[in-house]
Amino acid sequence: EMLDGERVFRLSAQAGETELVPGVSFATMGFNGTHLGPTLRATRGDKVRVHVRNELAVATTAHWHGMKVPASQDGTAHQAIAKGTTWSPSWTVEQDAATLWYHPHPHGQTELQVGSGMAGLFLIDDKEPSGLPSDYGVDDIPLIIQDVTVQSGGQREGTPTVTPIGRIGNTVIVNGTHEPHFVATTRQLRLRVLNASAARCYNLELSTGEDFHLVGTDGGLLSAPAAMSTLLLSPAERAEILLTVPQDAEVVLRSVPHDLGMTKGDNMTSGAEDTFGILRITGSKTGTEPPLPTALPSANHPEAVSGVERHFMLGDTTINGKSMDMSRIDTVVKASSTELWTVENTSKRAHNFHIHGTQFIVAAENGGPPAPRNQGWKDTVFIEPGASVQLTVPFSEFADPATPYMYHCHMLWHEDQGMMAQYVLT
Ligand code: C2O
Ligand code: CU
Ligand code: CU
Repeated sequence: EMLDGERVFRLSAQAGETELVPGVSFATMGFNGTHLGPTLRATRGDKVRVHVRNELAVATTAHWHGMKVPASQDGTAHQAIAKGTTWSPSWTVEQDAATLWYHPHPHGQTELQVGSGMAGLFLIDDKEPSGLPSDYGVDDIPLIIQDVTVQSGGQREGTPTVTPIGRIGNTVIVNGTHEPHFVATTRQLRLRVLNASAARCYNLELSTGEDFHLVGTDGGLLSAPAAMSTLLLSPAERAEILLTVPQDAEVVLRSVPHDLGMTKGDNMTSGAEDTFGILRITGSKTGTEPPLPTALPSANHPEAVSGVERHFMLGDTTINGKSMDMSRIDTVVKASSTELWTVENTSKRAHNFHIHGTQFIVAAENGGPPAPRNQGWKDTVFIEPGASVQLTVPFSEFADPATPYMYHCHMLWHEDQGMMAQYVLT
């Protein structure tokens, strides 16, 4: 809907029951339905307005994860939407083409609401086409991965397992579907993968053993496709991958065992040794394999210029030894400045780190070059125990000393336990 040069979206938060696994109903929540939410889409330069109506029995919020928006429009717990009311943020899209997403952020209730299905994609397009497959639902496929719990041997929703990284389920659903199957009509697919799980990490690979190509990270496209055989995605991270579908044969995108850097026992209880199918793809009978794009439009990476360096230490559920306090400002940043943030995981638990209102560059990982999966614009980065990352963070121009943005671990049980802090731009 375009009104007076504004792109207008309407979301309504709802609760209900959804049969996510055949024969098993779950208590769920969603936007414009009882599970997940519509894909919103805008082009750089668009003015966007979203009317978010809360039809739940409890308060919620709508946060635009990865979006460069003023703090007052960011949809954190400071912009709570009381039940029965509507919140109508607006902003102008000024960032690179990317796969962003939206989800609630109510203080202490984020795991419950996101885990119940309140999540949707927000795709940003550039005015110039990228040369990548872009026929939504045909060769440009969104994959929202979540985990749910089915009672063992039973036909009912169960209770998730408590692990060092948070609560995990035993059954994976993709776009709200159990064991999805996609019949491709083209030989090349672009998958936009979002890990919308509360805690579970996925290590993606193709059952054929073939490489796929990473073409985009959280905040935009890479400068060129990067071949890889596996790709780890922790909660909230996105990856755009290109894959070649074998002609008239099947390939399964699956999640395979990985190492979260914890003890063997903690890795195991945290689900890191599990194998799950994510998407079964049947290749089309015809069609030639299109060439891989050699270059992708991408913006220049920022230089750290301001000289301000900060250090953050991740504990079990704390940042710099503190728990979230909505009335405390932890960090004051000059608007439009670029800072160098070092984030060190000093606990025995795996974590990740997300900063609101910006996209950053991983300048270093453990003092060396970042892993290939972290060599693009990011808003969430995985940090295993004992590891550290250095982030070059260009902050926006939206000075507002009265309204904080957040940075936090995006493993939602950790976040709800208080592993979150606040910054303002002045
Ligand atoms: Cu995806 Cu603070 O959130
Ligand atoms: Cu966010
Ligand atoms: Cu964490």
